[in-house]
Amino acid sequence: MTHKNVVEFKNVTKTYNSGRPDAFTAVRDVTFAIPDMPGAGEFVAVLGPSGCGKSTILRMIAGLEPQHPATSGEVLVCGKPVPGPGPDRGMVFQDYTSFDNRTVLDNVAFGLECRGVSKPDRYEQARQWIQKVGLNVDTDANKFPHELSGGMRQRVAIARTLILRPRIILMDEPFGALDPHTRMQMQDLLVALWREVQATVFFVTHSIEESVYLGDRVFILSGSPGTLLHQIEVEPPNRPALEMQRESGFQQTVFQIRDILEELETT
Ligand SMILES: Nc1ncnc2c1ncn2[C@@H]1O[C@H](COP(=O)(O)OP(=O)(O)OP(=O)(O)O)[C@@H](O)[C@H]1O
Ligand SMILES: [Mg+2]
Repeated sequence: MTHKNVVEFKNVTKTYNSGRPDAFTAVRDVTFAIPDMPGAGEFVAVLGPSGCGKSTILRMIAGLEPQHPATSGEVLVCGKPVPGPGPDRGMVFQDYTSFDNRTVLDNVAFGLECRGVSKPDRYEQARQWIQKVGLNVDTDANKFPHELSGGMRQRVAIARTLILRPRIILMDEPFGALDPHTRMQMQDLLVALWREVQATVFFVTHSIEESVYLGDRVFILSGSPGTLLHQIEVEPPNRPALEMQRESGFQQTVFQIRDILEELETT
């Protein structure tokens, strides 16, 4: 049996406006491989100073322009060069990206609608996902995004993405705007859903605690142009966030990463 890598970067460099006077290299010579593990997906948390190219890397995996295509090197998904966006990759952004003129139900069902799934079928699945992300089908399904809190809107965004069962989930600071309590609830929810859908996750965050809690592996990027400096394996999130974040082993890993990042910010 061949084990392909779910995502692989081979010496990837991205220069925006390449060949022009305003050319800017955002990431340089990034190489990594996330192996395919049957029945499970790896959770990769991505840390690095502001502007080091984290979003650039995520959007290259997503196949979104102008980050896609890479200027040099190879971005491979399941062994093949990324041709552009595709249903095997779902993205969740920091800002709440629901359609304002659609109800929660219609937002969650949107992707299935695009795929031509019949109305009863997509509504049935959407209701299930509304429940899975911790919203109330009876009271929330017919609300519009402006009637929801930030945490609720991020639950809708997650449901919208996961209902399509992507192989790879790309999350760019999805919990950055949430209060600490809601954030921890969302972390535990995400871990539960990630286990269920068995996807590979790339999760950009500025929170070291969040990266150590959620990640199987933490990527640390250097300042601009971003290069991949460290890949640190950490304990998987196999207990609740509040519990794990109190343990001394957890704290030690957080301090270790904080030292690395602080050195990066000052050099
Ligand atoms: N479309 C673009 N054209 C030109 N330069 C860009 C473009 N998008 C991003 N950049 C530049 O590339 C660099 C990396 O940007 P990117 O958004 O990937 O960083 P980031 O690590 O996600 O930062 P943050 O933590 O602040 O979100 C930045 O200097 C940014 O100004
Ligand atoms: Mg970013």
